[in-house]
Amino acid sequence: MTPDLSCYNIADLRERARRRLPHGIWEYAERGVEDEGGMARNRAAFDRVTFRPRVLRGVQKVDTSTDVFGGRAAFPLALAPTGAAGLLWHKGDLALARAAATAGVPFTISSASTMDLEQIAVAGGRLWFQLYLWEDRSLSYAVVDKAHDIGCEALLVTLDMPVPPNREYIHRNGFGTPFKLNARNTLDVLWHPRWLASVMGRYALDGGVPSQANLPDRLRAKVTKGAPPGALFKQDDLDWDGIKELRDRWPGKLVLKGVLHPEDAERALALGADGVVVSNHGGRALDSSIATIDALPEIVSTVGGRMTVMLDSGVRRGSDVIKAVALGAQIVLAGRAPLYGLAAAGEAGVSRALDLLHSEVSRTMAMLGARSVSEIDSRLLG
Ligand SMILES: Cc1cc2nc3c(=O)[nH]c(=O)nc-3n(C[C@H](O)[C@H](O)[C@H](O)COP(=O)(O)O)c2cc1C
Repeated sequence: MTPDLSCYNIADLRERARRRLPHGIWEYAERGVEDEGGMARNRAAFDRVTFRPRVLRGVQKVDTSTDVFGGRAAFPLALAPTGAAGLLWHKGDLALARAAATAGVPFTISSASTMDLEQIAVAGGRLWFQLYLWEDRSLSYAVVDKAHDIGCEALLVTLDMPVPPNREYIHRNGFGTPFKLNARNTLDVLWHPRWLASVMGRYALDGGVPSQANLPDRLRAKVTKGAPPGALFKQDDLDWDGIKELRDRWPGKLVLKGVLHPEDAERALALGADGVVVSNHGGRALDSSIATIDALPEIVSTVGGRMTVMLDSGVRRGSDVIKAVALGAQIVLAGRAPLYGLAAAGEAGVSRALDLLHSEVSRTMAMLGARSVSEIDSRLLG
């Protein structure tokens, strides 16, 4: 059972996370890029979608579960890949994976996780793996093979960062990699002794500063060091042939994450991909991107029914999940919402975030007169 954290919605958990984390780490987890128009647009677009509920449907029993890639999810949500989890909480990747398994929803391991795949897999539950390609492609292929060996069902290849995003605050706060101590970030960290002791203190006790865990030992660089040659993510040369190679190599479900154009979705389908995530990386990649809920309908009308369409970016309420499903998404991914829970209270906080979203999904469905996910469609929208 999740302890009472006195948090009644995702915004409460967000506030707790903000207070607990050093400012530089909080901004890394929370902020977007440039002027953050994309983040605001994602939310504004969700808010513009309204419901037209049905009444007198008998909603004593509401079944929130859904199928995705041949397995059941307790409600239409999976945890998005988030590389910074290990800086928000000690062994944060494992805490996220455990809470997802308990909640009965899939968890996506990030290529940039600070724990390696086997360490995360002990959580059990349904696992997906997100891929950024390293400059040395053979490293990526080795990790992809390992993801298959540990039982990941799906490979999500993230495409919306062909070049590094413009996150000015990272430099302003002095939290870039390699991480270098200066007066500003030292004060910031010292000002958050609980985080320092419970996150960095515990890493110090079990072997030191976290590093990119999915690389072979010889290439793992601590966050305080620059990456050795070949060990940086680099995708500016990735094209459809590169995706074809991955398709030929990966026997499980292949999903392209960060698709906003229907023609790209069509091309993904033609190439044999099983799904797309309509995503603008939570407003963290290209600031002036279209809001995902606005991009969704055209993509669904192009490839819906022929491949799995998922959506992320800006999901903060159960009603957002239902809006996406009503517009044709199979499932949504949540990035920051579980991270707020993680930073607030570790695994218990993530469980709290997922419980809140699940109960909001269930309540919204009842209010709409939808007794199962299959009864949610665009006729319930205003
Ligand atoms: C702190 C943080 C780290 C992230 N790391 C990754 C990552 O390693 N790989 C990836 O594909 N997306 C990453 N994302 C993007 C998420 O997978 C997802 O697309 C986004 O968070 C969805 O928006 P939301 O945070 O509003 O739910 C990250 C997002 C955040 C907030």
